[in-house]
Amino acid sequence: MTERMPQPEFGDRRTFLRVVIFGGIALGAAGVGLIAAAPRPQDGPDAALLPLLPMADLAKLQKAKPLGAELSLSRRDGWRVRTLRQRVYILRVADGDTAAAFKVFSAVCPHAGCEVELKETQYVCPCHQAKFDTQGEKVSGPAPRGLDPLDVEVSDLQGAPWLKVRWQDFVVGLEERVARKA
Ligand code: FES
Repeated sequence: MTERMPQPEFGDRRTFLRVVIFGGIALGAAGVGLIAAAPRPQDGPDAALLPLLPMADLAKLQKAKPLGAELSLSRRDGWRVRTLRQRVYILRVADGDTAAAFKVFSAVCPHAGCEVELKETQYVCPCHQAKFDTQGEKVSGPAPRGLDPLDVEVSDLQGAPWLKVRWQDFVVGLEERVARKA
């Protein structure tokens, strides 16, 4: 079942980001699960960090079993609002409940921008069959680099610790990782 939850807004008058939540968490399962929505966080330096999931839900996430999530990012330019859906994958890489215990990858294929899918223990791009391991490293195919990692942080949201992610677009087709300006 798809469920929409409250949508936090971030940023100034020209640009904002919001999170739309889908479904529920399917811990231990390969493929896309959850996403989280949360009340509006405080404005400030962390404004671009999007609430991804409560740490309590991620406690059961097993190493080597990535979990998919979707972010809905909206940008306002005057009266115009553009909304993009972006898939990310969350991987537990260590025990514990700090940001260092997780990696979050953009699902955008660094070859030409298609969206990779999780197939058992690999991410596979449906466009030209680039393959990546669960750590995001390139295994085979035409992609010039591994999947792009995103900044994550654990911080409090209404009294509970949440894993938060900072969405970033990167230039595709390059061996080096170059952040794309908004
Ligand atoms: S876009 Fe992914 S392999 Fe070409």
